[in-house]
Amino acid sequence: MSENAIFPPSPEFVSKAHVQGMEQYRKLYREAAGNPEAFWADIAKREIHWFEPWDHVFEWNPPFVKWFAGAKTNAAYNCIDRHLEARGDKVAILWEGEPGDVREITYKELHRLVCRFANVLKARGLKTGDRAIVYMPMVPELPVALLACARLGVIHSVVFGGFSAEALKARIQDLDACMVITADGGWRRGKEVRLKDAVDEAVQECPGVQNVIVHQRTKSQIPMREGRDHWWHELEEGVSDDCPAVPVDSEHPLYVLYTSGTTGQPKGILHTTGGYLTAILMTMKWVFDLREEDVYWCTADIGWVTGHSYVVYAPLAAGATTVMYEGAPDYPDYGRFWQTVAKHKVSIFYSSPTAIRALIKQGEKWPAMHDLSSLRLLGSVGEPINPAAWEWYYRVIGKNRCPIVDTWWQTETGGILIAPMPGAVPLKPGSGTLPLPGIIAEVVDFSGNPVAANQEGFLIIKRPWPSMIRTIWGDPERFQQQYFSRIPGVYFTGDAARQDEDGYFWILGRVDDVMNVSGHRLSTMEVESALVRHPAVAEAAVVGKPHEITGQAVCCFVTLKAGDYDLPALNKELRQWVAHEIGAFARPEEIRFAEALPKTRSGKIMRRLLREIVTTRTVTGDVTTLEDLTVVTRLAAQNDEE
Ligand code: WTA
Repeated sequence: MSENAIFPPSPEFVSKAHVQGMEQYRKLYREAAGNPEAFWADIAKREIHWFEPWDHVFEWNPPFVKWFAGAKTNAAYNCIDRHLEARGDKVAILWEGEPGDVREITYKELHRLVCRFANVLKARGLKTGDRAIVYMPMVPELPVALLACARLGVIHSVVFGGFSAEALKARIQDLDACMVITADGGWRRGKEVRLKDAVDEAVQECPGVQNVIVHQRTKSQIPMREGRDHWWHELEEGVSDDCPAVPVDSEHPLYVLYTSGTTGQPKGILHTTGGYLTAILMTMKWVFDLREEDVYWCTADIGWVTGHSYVVYAPLAAGATTVMYEGAPDYPDYGRFWQTVAKHKVSIFYSSPTAIRALIKQGEKWPAMHDLSSLRLLGSVGEPINPAAWEWYYRVIGKNRCPIVDTWWQTETGGILIAPMPGAVPLKPGSGTLPLPGIIAEVVDFSGNPVAANQEGFLIIKRPWPSMIRTIWGDPERFQQQYFSRIPGVYFTGDAARQDEDGYFWILGRVDDVMNVSGHRLSTMEVESALVRHPAVAEAAVVGKPHEITGQAVCCFVTLKAGDYDLPALNKELRQWVAHEIGAFARPEEIRFAEALPKTRSGKIMRRLLREIVTTRTVTGDVTTLEDLTVVTRLAAQNDEE
């Protein structure tokens, strides 16, 4: 497929879309740019339920922003209660477990489940402003737990079930959480992933955790500590089905979600309530062109931001049917995604390039076995989608009739910022296309000046939008320094990009020391810190290496302390070590032992050179500041020994 292929929306798609044609898109964009306050206030009034109105729409004291401050709202009320009259019997959550068990939870039933669990939380003493950690498999009780927290104004923080006890502990401590909500385990590839064991290990060093609530999923044997651990179903006995939603300020924290930064310490990204809901609900309607009858499936795990915004909050706020799947895409076979689409008549399917590439590898016979005619729109998120994967997704899954919305955004942005409105914007495979209304995106140089068309630069966002990060939990200075100091007053995304002659954005990847493995963010420093905690390791440098399926893979250069080692065994051990310290998804693809690492004369490791070695297999960049050139030639030579 040519680099310059353009796919305009079909007249049929346009005729039914919410936003029809470029003129309508441009009009919305102009309105928002001309008067963003009036534009967002209008949407907030129309789309969100408020118990009390705001004092003023917007306050901007860089880097701190407030939207609709003074207004009272509640996220759970917006996601459930207000739908009860019109959609009480509509399926809110359509869940499929890995073993094939299905639960269809209507809005009415969701209301009951959330009220009951909120009453459980209340009975354990939780109140507005307290923090609860959620460490669960992809079962309906996970969104129920989030919504129950939101109902009471309790701040939740989901830790992805693939994180280790170590990582879980660091997050509980940073947040000073008083409760952990978990499960005995979940199913993945036919095996139990045990979660409670990791919780037990983590909370040993978290004296602030007074309660651990355990949902029973796999029914395996787990130890329960008297006084601290409680079964969800036992606590629920006899509680009321009713629990009023607590009106909270628009700026009340809804959740903290940890993501990798450029240091070894993850950052707790804080999102608040009113602005967040307004923007994610609107982007849901714009980008997925949502209709009442849609069956919408976002395959992300709720442990990541995509799951927060586009599995739970946006679809439920929109009154949609959101599909949740517990397990692996390749279980029991490579047709599981397509079988699930056919079984539940999914109309909108939103997934990641990594998942698509992994399935491409298995061939077209898997999708061919299932009826995919219910699909009308496809989405992609988390990393750039390469044109070959785009073409396969479009042709084999979408049968050349479903637009693909490539959505660019970040944990920090809360919702989608750059993506096509599918009934308006012509698609170019590999490009997120144009910014949504209210988003002023630019590609700039080091001094913040816009670069010419097709020149590479830093992607920045010039004006605050309602769902943007409010701060880093407990560290406002790091917040200012990370996002607003490079180019004062504007939001620095950390991504490189170029804008073509039509103004389309092409994302080129991170400019900082953050890797993107299977669409998951991972800091090189986090992996390095894990490695140097191993007794044999003297120094470590970690870089992302291009990988056919996962986008990038973790590649580690390691020097050892003096001693005799069985290198193949140590290699295996170190990969396992990182998986244990951070989580299995961080397991390095490759460990390379080196005599020394390339350093500048001031002692900084030159990751740029290592990146070049694993990417191009040679070193062409500037090496004039390098301390010992032979280090690099020796490392590059290792390539040839592979
Ligand atoms: C990358 C995930 C290209 C980007 C929602 C960003 C993308 C990081 C795209 C955020 C896309 C996300 N095209 N790159 N459509 N979407 N990225 O915080 O580098 O897990 O900065 O949020 O993923 O990852 P995060």
